[in-house]
Amino acid sequence: MKGIILAGGTGSRLFPLTKLINKHLLPVGRFPMICYGIERMRKAGIQDILLIVGKSSAGLYTNFLGSGEEWGVNISYKIQESAGGIAQALNLARSFVSAQDRFVVLLGDNLFHDDLTPYVDAFNQQPSGSARVLLKHVNDPKRYGVPVFHMSQPNLIQYIEEKPKNPQSNYCVTGIYMYDSYVFEAISQIAPSARGELEITDVNNVYAKLGRLQFDILRGWWTDAGTFDSLDEAGRKLRGLKL
Ligand code: DAU
Repeated sequence: MKGIILAGGTGSRLFPLTKLINKHLLPVGRFPMICYGIERMRKAGIQDILLIVGKSSAGLYTNFLGSGEEWGVNISYKIQESAGGIAQALNLARSFVSAQDRFVVLLGDNLFHDDLTPYVDAFNQQPSGSARVLLKHVNDPKRYGVPVFHMSQPNLIQYIEEKPKNPQSNYCVTGIYMYDSYVFEAISQIAPSARGELEITDVNNVYAKLGRLQFDILRGWWTDAGTFDSLDEAGRKLRGLKL
C-alpha cells in the first residue's frame, strides 16, 4: 500500500495566515499540520508517500521533511503548478503508482484519531477497480461532500453531493480515500466544476455509479483544519500529542 498526501491549494479560508505560509505547515499542537497525516500513514504500515505541494512552498516542505527518514517513511514530491482542484492534484500521482498498486489518499488538512489499519485491510478485500471512502457524522454537513446511501446495498454509497444546500444525511465524506490505478481512468472521465476545479466528489461518483464505492465510518475525532475555528479545535485536541 502506498500513500499520497495532497497539500496544494490556496488555503483561502485561512487568509491572511496562508499568504505567509502554506496551510499544511501551520502549527497544530507541537507540529506543523502535515506531520499528522504522515504519522497516521506510518502507523498503518504505509512507508512510500508522495506529497503533492504547491510550487511556492515546495522548498519549505523539503527543508522540513527531507527524504522522510526522520519520520520513518520515504517521501517523494510532486509540484502542483496551480490549484486546479483535488482531482487535478491527485492526477499528478500517475507515475508514483503502478497498475497493481493500491493507495490511500489523504487531504493534508484532515486530522483524525482513528488508526487507518482496519480500513486499509477492508479495502484490500475489495475487488480491483473499486474505491473506499471514510465518513464522519457531523453537525454541519453543508460544508462537505455528503453521501446518499444505497437503498438496497447497505455497504455502498449511491452518490455524493458536494456542499449541498439540503444535505440528505448528517455524514461527511472525509478527505481519506482509497483507490487503485482505476482512479486515473475515473479522473479522465470528469470535467471541471462550476468553480473551475476537478472535484474529488465527481471522481467518487464515477465509482458510485458503477456500484463500486464502499465506505467505513470513523469512530474517533476528525476535523478538516481548513477554517479558523477548526484549526483552533485541532490545536486544542492535538496539543499534548508527541509524534
Ligand atoms: O475535508 C473534507 C472535504 O474536502 C470533503 O468533504 C469534500 O468533498 C472535498 O471536496 C473537500 O472539500 P474542501 O472544500 O474542504 O476542499 P479544499 O479546497 O479545502 O481542499 C482540501 C485539501 O485538498 C487541501 O488541504 C489541499 C488539497 N488541495 C486542494 C485543492 C483545491 C490540493 O492539493 N490542490 C488543490 O488544487
